Amino acid sequence: MSQYSLPDLKKARFRQPDYKADIVYDAVKYTDSQRILGSGLNYHVITYGCQANVRDGEVIAGILENMGYKYTEALAEADVIILNTCAIRDNAEKKVLGEIGFLLSYKRVNPNLVVGICGCMAQEEDVVNTIIQKYPVIELIFGTHNIWQLPELLENVVNKREKSIQVYSIQGNIYEDLPSVRQFKHKAFVNIMDGCNKFCTYCIVPYTRGQQRSRYSKDVVEEVKQLYDLGYKEVTLLGQNVNAYGKDLDDGNTFAELLGQVSDIGIERIRFTTSHPWDFTDEMIDMIAKRDNIMPFIHLPLQSGNDEILRKMGRRYSSDEYRILFDKIKNRIDDVCVSTDIIVGFPNETEEQFLDTMKMVEYCQYDNAYSFIFSPRKGTPAYEMSDATTMEEKKERLQRLNERLGYYSKLNNKKYEGRIVDILVDGFSKTDINTMSGYTRGNKLVNFKANNANIGDIINVEITEGMKNSLNGKQVEK
Ligand code: SAH
Ligand code: SF4
Ligand code: F3S
Repeated sequence: MSQYSLPDLKKARFRQPDYKADIVYDAVKYTDSQRILGSGLNYHVITYGCQANVRDGEVIAGILENMGYKYTEALAEADVIILNTCAIRDNAEKKVLGEIGFLLSYKRVNPNLVVGICGCMAQEEDVVNTIIQKYPVIELIFGTHNIWQLPELLENVVNKREKSIQVYSIQGNIYEDLPSVRQFKHKAFVNIMDGCNKFCTYCIVPYTRGQQRSRYSKDVVEEVKQLYDLGYKEVTLLGQNVNAYGKDLDDGNTFAELLGQVSDIGIERIRFTTSHPWDFTDEMIDMIAKRDNIMPFIHLPLQSGNDEILRKMGRRYSSDEYRILFDKIKNRIDDVCVSTDIIVGFPNETEEQFLDTMKMVEYCQYDNAYSFIFSPRKGTPAYEMSDATTMEEKKERLQRLNERLGYYSKLNNKKYEGRIVDILVDGFSKTDINTMSGYTRGNKLVNFKANNANIGDIINVEITEGMKNSLNGKQVEK
């Protein structure tokens, strides 16, 4: 196999309507020499981006450990450093390009160091060409579709000192039985699908991750069962648009059905992300409402509250449809918390159009929100749109928006004062070692004084204070 294949934007765009992804079981293979390549050597993986990327980072770590590498926290001691990148906005990319220069300084101390680049930036034609030209010492680049090939690619670099650049721009396959080193012992990410077919006009994800392809529900259920048997308390089912789960499969399973099957396993907490407001069915809402182990938390990206902007974004819902869905979720799911994503400054967004977004924020009063200034991504339709709105206006809108989003998250958090809530204990607070932290069923971060709690316990906490980004509390008897 040639170890040189570059990304291709035209191919990344291609979709075949009746495409059926190959499901590859026992996906990663190692030769005897690859199994011992890393003996006595260390690795470090740096992950940027969304939960899908975090999950990929866990798989990469799993492959490296199967090759004999040991994890090190200290970059200076690493023999392989993998940068698992994100391409969603320009600032995410700038950060990585800055980091490459810094990491290469370790190569002066350890000339055998391999710095590898993977993730969504590795799927971008321009970015890969820039890296090849600007950083000729980067020897390893592999795409989101090429993780399973890591043993062979890395061996090629280490033993032959040849470059391995392997990026396929394909619709993609499903890889099963992947090894992984999971971040936590009490909660886990479980991919239920990869890729995206929505092609929102601003978004690069469909090009970097390929066609939407779902894992068979039997394979998802099997993975969750294994986690449950290992003592895991929480799983988060991952997909760019989980509501569309199963539409590309022939076993007829929908996301609502998958939720039911995962819930039947009996694991204590089930979360999922992201749900696009489009194809959010009543069956899903009913399933979440009636099952106690499906958490009442919905991330429901709005993006914009203006119909014309939503149309130009290709979001396929109107502000009215969003509001109706939002009301249904609030009315039918007990004690539900809702968060969102919003983009300001889409090309030519006017003040009036922005005010429609603000109106929606006043209506929905979100528990939490992520807000972004539109970032043009090369290869997407919105990149080509003319834009008369200045960056100053965009920044000023973001500020106004954040002020209202912060107001409502604090208001909602204040309503928790005096309540006793269930917390899955995550660890110790970042700011105070006498304090532990965890999340409520509705995904609110709580820092609390513990008297008898271990990581992975589900305990009762009385909330004493609600702030903008978190709650304070103290542990009480169950
Ligand atoms: N699949 C998810 C979103 C994944 S990307 C969904 O459709 O809901 C996470 C968020 O990044 C998006 O919801 C959007 O708000 C933001 N985003 C994506 N592309 C962007 C761009 N080009 N500029 C600014 N924000 C963007
Ligand atoms: Fe991007 Fe839209 Fe797909 Fe989400 S649904 S990943 S925003 S194209
Ligand atoms: Fe970023 Fe790729 Fe996720 S672009 S947000 S890492 S799918």
